Amino acid sequence: MTPEHPGTTTHDPARVPPPGCPAHDRGPGGLVRLYGPGAENLGDLYEDLREEHGAVAPVLLHDDVPMWIVLGHAENLHMVTSPAEYCRDSRIWTPLKEGRVSPDNPLMPHITWEPICSHTEGEEHQRLRGAVMAAMSTINHRALRRYINRYTQRLVNRFCEKGHADLVSQFADHLPMAVMCEILGLPEEYNERMVHAARDMLKGTETAIASHAYVMEKLSELTARRRQEQEEDFASELISHPAGLTDDEVTKHLWLVLMAAYEATANLLANALRMVLTDDRFYARLNGGQMTVMEAVEQSLWDEPPFSAVFAYYAKQDTELGGKRIRKGDGLLFAPVAGNIDPRVRPDLSANMKGNRSHLAFGGGPHECPGQDIGRAIAEVGVDALLMRLPDVQLDCDEEELRYRESISSRHLIELPVRFDPKPQQDVMAAPSHGSVAPPQPQWKVADILAEPLPDPDPVPEPQPPRQEIPPPAPPAEPEPQRPLGAWQRFLRWWRGY
Ligand code: HEM
Repeated sequence: MTPEHPGTTTHDPARVPPPGCPAHDRGPGGLVRLYGPGAENLGDLYEDLREEHGAVAPVLLHDDVPMWIVLGHAENLHMVTSPAEYCRDSRIWTPLKEGRVSPDNPLMPHITWEPICSHTEGEEHQRLRGAVMAAMSTINHRALRRYINRYTQRLVNRFCEKGHADLVSQFADHLPMAVMCEILGLPEEYNERMVHAARDMLKGTETAIASHAYVMEKLSELTARRRQEQEEDFASELISHPAGLTDDEVTKHLWLVLMAAYEATANLLANALRMVLTDDRFYARLNGGQMTVMEAVEQSLWDEPPFSAVFAYYAKQDTELGGKRIRKGDGLLFAPVAGNIDPRVRPDLSANMKGNRSHLAFGGGPHECPGQDIGRAIAEVGVDALLMRLPDVQLDCDEEELRYRESISSRHLIELPVRFDPKPQQDVMAAPSHGSVAPPQPQWKVADILAEPLPDPDPVPEPQPPRQEIPPPAPPAEPEPQRPLGAWQRFLRWWRGY
């Protein structure tokens, strides 16, 4: 018979392991708890569960609330792409309907139903998501890259003269917030307080409610301002969309976009930085070409998806998944962190996943992340620009000393200490470079080539040497002269926004 969730049936004391049994730390029904002692290393726990149960395992959330966790790649994909069988509407979740989920359950901020696109389905989902997608489609990707470069310059300026930094608290935690505030339409609200409030809210600390209220207040004010007078930003596009969102809907979607983007992108950026600093495969190749930062980001999306297992789906009918009987009203955790390392798709975890984007980091189906290009751009351009400023940056501790804050929803690097030779500040409006105050004099007669108009409406001019100072061509024995920019490099400069 196909097994069903042991925790959804009446509690049977005979199934509780006796004292001394290795499973003694388990909860009722001998089920594994995803919290408390024994759940310090969730990655290992998921692998134990895979061995014991296969692709779909019964587990217990806080207060021993029953849940399935989906560990298989194919099973996760099937669940998110089958809206007839599974939805994101927690109002049908049996334990919630029976009052078994306490309001302070750490997953409640993600589970509590809200009238936002992330929780709705069918026509209402299309209405709300349609407005979000339309507003996103107006984001100018060249301008986005320019913001990322400028904020990177600004953040690096704060620590470049010191020769050391923590790239989590001083860079990865800030860059996505700065860029998202700019995109949404509140650049003046990007500050320490906003970053702190976002982190605090997601940590679920005692001050989380006040932090949530602070962020909501700023977003409500933005909605009110743009209702009065529109500008060229995401908030204005959302307001003017034909779907006719109410002020409450606009504010809640600004919140959804800010939070979905901030938490995930900050994690992705920190993970990608850690990877380029510690993984020989990338470090050796990074010095050679641009594409490898993209590869580092993509590999990191496979190995450390920024959302580990936060999104819950609910069964709309009795069904079957991974050989388990799923009852109508059962809850299932979408778990990219486990699906991405399913041995059926990745028998060798050390293999490079170059060119393969079939990971689950951005979900799939009707709720697939609409902001993935923006998240990737922040991570790729941010890492690239930081390496331009600090080409000699190195990890300032042993890799084994790096610590993470782990929860069911994400695994967040706590600190990434680095050192480098102190560098001078740079103009935030200029392209990030290797940092000399006076740019090296070109030895080729490049002025005409650099002056060639790039298709940039707002170009940042390159420093031009006075014509009379251009030296004659170097003799053959001299070090290789700086070559004129090829078409590809000029395209890259145009694409990156500087
Ligand atoms: C790199 C980082 C990111 C990751 C890993 C990520 C991941 C995800 C995932 C897994 C989902 C699907 C949840 C589900 O199945 O219900 C999702 C949804 C969503 N994401 Fe992202 N995201 C990232 C960045 C962003 C950015 C930058 C934005 C906005 C600019 C964004 C906006 C959204 C929105 C609005 C949804 C809800 C879509 C819906 O339910 O229809 N995300 N994201």
